[in-house]
Amino acid sequence: MAGKMNKDKPWAGRFTQQTDALVERFTASVAFDRRLYKHDILGSIAHARMLAHVGVLSEAECAAIVAGLQDIEHDIETGKFDWSVALEDVHMNIEARLIERIGEAGKKLHTGRSRNDQVATDLRLYLRDAIDAILQQIKDLQTVLLDIAGREAETILPGFTHLQVAQPVTFGHHMLAWFEMLERDRARFKDCRKRVNVMPLGAAALAGASYPIDRAYTAELLGFDAPAENSLDAVSDRDFAVEFTAAAALLMTHLSRFSEELILWSSAQFDFVDLGDAFCTGSSIMPQKKNPDVPELVRGKSGRVTGHLMALLTLMKAQPLAYNKDNQEDKEPVFDTVDTVQDSLRVYTAMLGAMQLKRERMLHAAASGFATATDLADYLTKNGVPFRDAHEIVGKIVRHAIETRRELTELTLDELHGFSAAIKQDVFDILEPQGSVAARNHLGGTAPAQVRAAIARAKEQLAH
Ligand code: ARG
Repeated sequence: MAGKMNKDKPWAGRFTQQTDALVERFTASVAFDRRLYKHDILGSIAHARMLAHVGVLSEAECAAIVAGLQDIEHDIETGKFDWSVALEDVHMNIEARLIERIGEAGKKLHTGRSRNDQVATDLRLYLRDAIDAILQQIKDLQTVLLDIAGREAETILPGFTHLQVAQPVTFGHHMLAWFEMLERDRARFKDCRKRVNVMPLGAAALAGASYPIDRAYTAELLGFDAPAENSLDAVSDRDFAVEFTAAAALLMTHLSRFSEELILWSSAQFDFVDLGDAFCTGSSIMPQKKNPDVPELVRGKSGRVTGHLMALLTLMKAQPLAYNKDNQEDKEPVFDTVDTVQDSLRVYTAMLGAMQLKRERMLHAAASGFATATDLADYLTKNGVPFRDAHEIVGKIVRHAIETRRELTELTLDELHGFSAAIKQDVFDILEPQGSVAARNHLGGTAPAQVRAAIARAKEQLAH
């Protein structure tokens, strides 16, 4: 009688009352964790093969389970699978369907396993694939940056500090700064992958299984580097999800910073780049508008990934060992992080590929605002004036230029000479932005020659 009340539920044996309808909906995760179906089936097939390998299942039972699970995967992919909220989650939905399809053998799949080690395994398998896809997408974006850097090794724009014109830099150099940030992101995801790729299966509910299971065998089948060492830790650990989300939050922070620059650069005030009509939208009221929605959205979406990181850290902070249902809350933040990162990387790669540069505008901006004042101070220093004195002299020259509304290149040699006898005709070479960037010719500097050398090194890095 008892079992009949909850006849759908695998755990009905102990219960005498039907689950409250609201509780059923509240505790169910199938609406979102069905996304794990592929990895759940992969894990179940490996588990069944291991059970047959150690003699807990017969080969015939194992074959029936594997075939049944493959059919179910096909049904899911062709939209022929009815997901049931009464069956709570992806795991019980698939297991119940397997039993329906193949009968007795299906009832043996869950031998020596719990949903606790099962879900932790599924999420790791899922994240491993997500990380591999993200690593490739970061590379794709880096490749576009290197293409632009190569084409624009000589292109000059002003570099900024405090968002004030500071010194001229090359556009290629600027793209390589973004490349470096992404290279660190790539390293972080690769490092995180090592801790993702550890197998919880065999931990069962929390204490391990009483069958002669061969965890190394299952790990090998699933491509895990090793089985997790401790069963209590294996079912409760979500560090790998936190680490993944932290790496993602920092990547999104980088994309948000790029976005801020693109938004500024595409404004009428800067007018350095055109993002392309395909990557902008208009205003429903102001006919003249072409808005940089894509970078704005990426900047905005960085907030939700940082939020997911906070959610996961908070989710974990008060959990005693081992598994707690709290952990079911890990999936939506992780899934949304994966979607947000992948979409942002994809849209960025396409958008940068289409971006047009306004080289003359950038050069003009670099030639104004006294961007080569430091070069003038360096010039005086190279001609025997101590740097602190040179700094003072150039400060006075800049003030004079501001008062007479001119750029440094528009001052006469006589005027300049009045500030320092060390200034000669050749000063005009270094006052041009081209001279300024070419002079910074050392590892990490902005000179076109250095940009080309850095691109060659970067291509080498991308091969790994
Ligand atoms: N849906 C659950 C989750 O996502 C699966 C594990 C359930 N385990 C349990 N003991 N209720 O965490």
